[in-house]
Amino acid sequence: MKVMGIVAGRHNGNSEILVKEALLACQEKGAEVTLINLFDYNILPCTGCESCTMNMGEVAMGKGEYRGCVLKAKDDVDKLIAAMQQQNGIIVGVPTYDLMPSSVYTRFAQRFLAYELAFLLKIGAVKEDPHTVAGLIAVGGSCHDWQGLTLETMAASMFTQSIYVVDQMMATRNGRPGNVLLRDDQLSRAHKMGENIITAINTPVEERGWLGDPDQGLCPNCHGGLIFKGEPHWDGIQWPFECAVCGAGGDLVRGEDGRVRFVPAEDGLCRDRNVNECRDKHLDEIVQTRIDFFERQEEVQAKYGRYKDLKFKTVEV
Ligand SMILES: Cc1cc2nc3c(=O)[nH]c(=O)nc-3n(C[C@H](O)[C@H](O)[C@H](O)COP(=O)(O)O)c2cc1C
Repeated sequence: MKVMGIVAGRHNGNSEILVKEALLACQEKGAEVTLINLFDYNILPCTGCESCTMNMGEVAMGKGEYRGCVLKAKDDVDKLIAAMQQQNGIIVGVPTYDLMPSSVYTRFAQRFLAYELAFLLKIGAVKEDPHTVAGLIAVGGSCHDWQGLTLETMAASMFTQSIYVVDQMMATRNGRPGNVLLRDDQLSRAHKMGENIITAINTPVEERGWLGDPDQGLCPNCHGGLIFKGEPHWDGIQWPFECAVCGAGGDLVRGEDGRVRFVPAEDGLCRDRNVNECRDKHLDEIVQTRIDFFERQEEVQAKYGRYKDLKFKTVEV
């Protein structure tokens, strides 16, 4: 059993302490553990060049070889993701900055696209699916009201790696480094997360399920707390409400106990981003958008000049 801790917080900070506590539990159960702090690595931002997805499309059509990310030799991300793709479990600890995960984490996670696990497995670049499970820890100085996007954004970063999130915790009211040492409940919850990760690893893949707080979040599918009013998708599909994280579609229903619940529709999990086949539907959308764009090149080029030639005053530094 291999478990890796990934920390995006300060050295000796609250995220690092909680991830270490969770890793201790994994180690006690016999796992080989590794810990990385993203501050120690050179992580360049995704350039948005789309070379990876364009190249993936070519390879899928039998043309050429996959070259990977254009930044592959320029920073440490290639090595970090290669190590991550060998883990049975990961435990990710990220501080909340402005309600959301700190940019050190999002900068790392937004490089995952070029390393989409399902694709690398298909072309044989990764030999074996590790069926990695994850525990996510959000850490903030405040309560949930000031951390409303952190766990959900972290969970949303797991799809491209086909990582199944089995547990999440939000550590609240931790400001200065070491603050969490005053919160025994949070330390023991992190320890429990480590145990949950080992339980999940030892459970057959098809029988794995959520091991966190059963009451967490509104979505019964991913336990995310962000439900929004549904709008038509590119192919017309629509539900009254949707989960912003996993893409489940359904309605908000008040039960006999007076509680409002999000109830997925009968076909409400057909866009579940956790499921590779359902996520492929999104690939169809991307391909359609791209075909439409390339078919209408004359129109695009005719309009492009106006914007390419348009210059405004900028800030000199
Ligand atoms: C730029 C910045 C923005 C922050 N914004 C929030 C916030 O919106 N909500 C919150 O709960 N804590 C916020 N915090 C507090 C940190 O999440 C908190 O100090 C946390 O313990 C840091 O984790 P670390 O010790 O692992 O680095 C912010 C801190 C910084 C530096």
